[in-house]
Amino acid sequence: MELESNSKDAPIGVFDSGVGGLTVVREIMRQIPNEKIIYFGDTARLPYGSKSKDTIIRYSRQICHFLESQKVKAIVVACNTASAQALDTLEQEIDVPITGVVKPGAKTAAEATKNGKIGVIATEGTISSQIYSQYIMKLKPDTEVIGKACPLFVPLVEEGLLIDPVTVEIAQRYLTELIDIDIDTLILGCTHYPLIRSTIGKIMGDKVTLVNPAYETARELKELLEEKHLLNETKPTLGTGQYQFYVSDAADKFKTFANSILKYGILSAKVVNMEQY
Ligand code: DGL
Repeated sequence: MELESNSKDAPIGVFDSGVGGLTVVREIMRQIPNEKIIYFGDTARLPYGSKSKDTIIRYSRQICHFLESQKVKAIVVACNTASAQALDTLEQEIDVPITGVVKPGAKTAAEATKNGKIGVIATEGTISSQIYSQYIMKLKPDTEVIGKACPLFVPLVEEGLLIDPVTVEIAQRYLTELIDIDIDTLILGCTHYPLIRSTIGKIMGDKVTLVNPAYETARELKELLEEKHLLNETKPTLGTGQYQFYVSDAADKFKTFANSILKYGILSAKVVNMEQY
């Protein structure tokens, strides 16, 4: 039987430039365990953080077309850069409900801050869009939002240097100025960064609340599915087939990484040629 994208039983499509979006997948698996997920990591074209808005829109559009061809019932843009640069455009073009990670992260941070000073670490693309401060200002106008681009974090994570002296050294360089201005809340505004949360947390110290937008993203996704009557009420009987993984390159490397951070054994990651979409 062929699934339709408006069926409760259809999968959720999730994408990022690489492995970062798995931090969002992990949270979706935890909060709505009945859902099937199709994940796409654009490993051939990463990083997104240093690319132009037009390029991010083009890449994201191709990925959404691929996910729509898989009959997903909803799409999660599990990438802050694509949420910042492309979500507005995609919302106009895509037929299924689509949601990103920036708004949920901004909401959580606005609720968490006590002294009204929030730091955002993210890619160059996300920081230059100023999207976090725009959302936070709408929710809490007196807040000061200080952005810091951390472009080396993505390659460090993709190389698996999650706990490593090189990562500590670079994190110290990036984060010192945020410590000096006394923020009490720090948004991990790139889906790769929760994977080096322990390093970031040690440097920032106990007084700073780290916000991983993934939690609120999964919560809001659940609400969206409920509202659209698309929440899957029964557990699929597919075993590990409940979760499928696609990449644009280097499938084995992706699979190994995914298996190191997800608790479900991933049997395969398949390569998709994006130029078809
Ligand atoms: N993980 C992505 C983000 O949240 C993109 C990282 C990159 O490819 O630069 O922004």
